[in-house]
Amino acid sequence: MAGRIPDDFIDDVLTRTDLVELIDSYVPLKRTGKNYAACCPFHQEKTPSFTVSPDKQFYYCFGCGASGNAVGFLMDYTRLSFVEALEVLARNQGLEIPRDENANQQREDHQPLFRILEQATDFFEQQLRNPKVKERPVGYLKKRGLSGQTAKHFRVGYAPPGWDNLLTALGGDDKKRALLLKAGLLIENEQGRNYDRFRDRVMFPIRDNRGRVIAFGGRVLGDDKPKYLNSPETPVFHKGRELYGLWEARQASNKISRFVIVEGYMDVIALAQFGITYAVATLGTATSQEHVEKLFRHSDELIFCFDGDEAGRRAAWRALENTLATVKDGRQVKFLLLPEGEDPDTLVRKDGKTYFEGLLDEATALSEFFFQHLADEVDTRTMDGRARLASLAKPYLEKLPQGVFQQLMVQRLGEITQLKDIRLDPPKPANPPQQAHQPAAQNAAAATGTAHAEHEYFGDPGPGPEHSPSFPQNDNPAGHPAPRPRQRQPLSRGDKPAGAKTELSLVDSTIRILLNAPRQAAGTPLPDELQQLDLPRMPLLLELLQYLKQKPDASTAAILGHWQNQDGGDALFNLAAREFLLPNEEQFPELEDALRRLRLQKVEQDLDQIIAGGVKDKDRLKQLLHLQKELSKQPNKSP
Ligand code: UTP
Ligand code: MN
Repeated sequence: MAGRIPDDFIDDVLTRTDLVELIDSYVPLKRTGKNYAACCPFHQEKTPSFTVSPDKQFYYCFGCGASGNAVGFLMDYTRLSFVEALEVLARNQGLEIPRDENANQQREDHQPLFRILEQATDFFEQQLRNPKVKERPVGYLKKRGLSGQTAKHFRVGYAPPGWDNLLTALGGDDKKRALLLKAGLLIENEQGRNYDRFRDRVMFPIRDNRGRVIAFGGRVLGDDKPKYLNSPETPVFHKGRELYGLWEARQASNKISRFVIVEGYMDVIALAQFGITYAVATLGTATSQEHVEKLFRHSDELIFCFDGDEAGRRAAWRALENTLATVKDGRQVKFLLLPEGEDPDTLVRKDGKTYFEGLLDEATALSEFFFQHLADEVDTRTMDGRARLASLAKPYLEKLPQGVFQQLMVQRLGEITQLKDIRLDPPKPANPPQQAHQPAAQNAAAATGTAHAEHEYFGDPGPGPEHSPSFPQNDNPAGHPAPRPRQRQPLSRGDKPAGAKTELSLVDSTIRILLNAPRQAAGTPLPDELQQLDLPRMPLLLELLQYLKQKPDASTAAILGHWQNQDGGDALFNLAAREFLLPNEEQFPELEDALRRLRLQKVEQDLDQIIAGGVKDKDRLKQLLHLQKELSKQPNKSP
C-alpha cells in the first residue's frame, strides 16, 4: 500500500476521537458502571453483551468476540477500508490526512513503478492504432465483438510481435530498464539481457482501487499456449488480492447493488459491453476470502458465476468455502453454474443482457447450493447417510458468523437430516479464558475482574438456542467469544493445539503487558539475545518493543492503529481484547520480569541445543548454566 499515513497522525485522530460518542451515534449505548453497553451490532442478541470502555477506548463483545478501537468499529460497522475509516474520523475532528513523504520513501516509493506502468499502458493502447501492426489484433477483437468504446473503457491494448518493442520505446536508460523489469514488463535472461515479456498479445491492464495500472494480462491471438500470460507478482501487484474489473465497475456506478464474479477477462469485458457493468474476475486464481471481503465493502450481494463443468463446480465450492466466514446477516451469496461449453462472454452475446440478468436473478442461494453439494455425496434416504450429512455440514456452519443466517442454516440442516438436536460447537476461542478448568461462573468473574456491570450478562444466559453459542455457560466452560467480525485469527495459531491448556504463552503475556501499559517499554533495555529466541510471535513482540522505543508515548489505541493493517495485527487485537477483560487496577507483573523470563527461555533453548550437540564447547556450557542460575534467582511471579 503506497502513501502510508503517518503513525503520529493516526495516534492524533484516535486520541481526539471519543469512542463512546462515536459508537453511540450508530448504536445507542447505556451506561453500566464505568463502561457502556448495548446489544451487539455484530451478532444477533437479546441482552447486551457489547461493551465499550471509555478508559481504554476499546470495545468488546462478550457474545461474539468483536473488538477493536474507533477505526476498527467503523471498518466493521460501515464496511469502510482502514484508510476510509480513518478519513471519516479525521473529518469529524476537522483534520486532513497528511501524506507521509518520509515514510513513503523509507517504505519504498512506488510512484516510478506506477508511472512506467502507465506509460506501458499508453504504449500498448497506441499499438491498436499503429497502422504497421494494428491489423491482426483489431481484426481479432472485432471478431470477438468488442466495440471501440469498450476497448477504450478497459484500456485494452496490444503488444506487437518482437523481443524489444516496449524495451526500445520505454527503456531508454538503465534506470528505466530496471523499472520495467521490476514492473514485470521485461524478462532478464541468463546472460543478463532484457527482452519484452509480452509479445504479440492483446493486453488487458489490471487496475487497483485508485484506477492505477498495476499489472497486465495478455492473450494470444490464436491458439498458442499459454492462452493468457499475467504479470508476475511485483511490489504493486499481488494476484491473490486483485480483482479484474473492480475499478471499472466502481466507475460505472457509485451504488453497486450486486457483483457477479466470473472467470475471465473477456467475460468481464463482454458483460460490461452489454450493460452488465458489475462483473469482476479473479486473475486465474481461486476466490480468496480477501477477494470476497473486498467486494463486500461495495455491495451486499455476490453472485459467483462459473462454467458448468467439473472444474467450474470445484471452483464454486472453493469460493463457497472462502466465503462462509464473511456472510454476516444482510449479505447474500449466490451461485450460477452455466450450461457446459458456455461462459458469460458467449452467453451474453448469444442471448443478451435481459436473458443473462434473468439467470443471475435465478441464481442458487448459498444455502441451497451448499446442501445440494453435500447431499450429492451421501445417500439421504438412509439414517446413516443423513447423519453423515450432518457431520459433513457442521464444520462449515460453524464457520458462519453467528446470526440469523447461521441459525436458519442449522434449522435447514435439521429439516434435511430429520435430526432434531443439531448443535454447533462453540466458536473457536478468539480469546481463551485464563483457566479452562475453572467453573464458568468463576471464570467469567475472573475475566471481567471487578467490573460489576458485566456480571449481569452472565447471570441471565437465557434458555433459547440462539443464546447457547454466545454465552459461557456451566456445561460449556469454553463458551468463549467468536472471532471478531473481520475474522481475526484465533490466538492459538502456531501455538499450542487448541483445547490444550489455554494459559497465555510468555511472549503473549509480555505483549499484553505492553498493551496495558505501553509506557513501561521506554525505560526497559531490550536484551540482545532475545532477537534469536525462537518462539511463536516473538518477532511481533520485538517489533512492538522497537515501535515503543520510537514512540514512547504511544497509547494502546495508537498501537492498535499502527498494526491495524499489518501482519501481526490479528494477534495484537486478540490480546488487546483479552486485555480489555481485565480491569485497569489489576497488578501487572513488571515488564522487566517478563523479559527476564524470556531470557531464561532463550538460555534454556541454547542449553538444549548445546546438550543435544554433545557439548563441544564446555566454556559455553558453563556460561549458560551460570546464566540460567542467575536468571532463575529472581522472584518467580506468574505473568
Ligand atoms: P479460460 O481458459 O476460461 O478462458 O480462462 P476465457 O476467459 O474464456 O478466455 P477466452 O474467452 O478464450 O479469451 C479463464 C481465466 O483464467 C486465466 C485468465 O485470467 C482467464 O481470463 N488464465 C487462463 C490464465 O491466467 N492463463 C491461461 O493460460 C488461461
Ligand atoms: Mn471465454
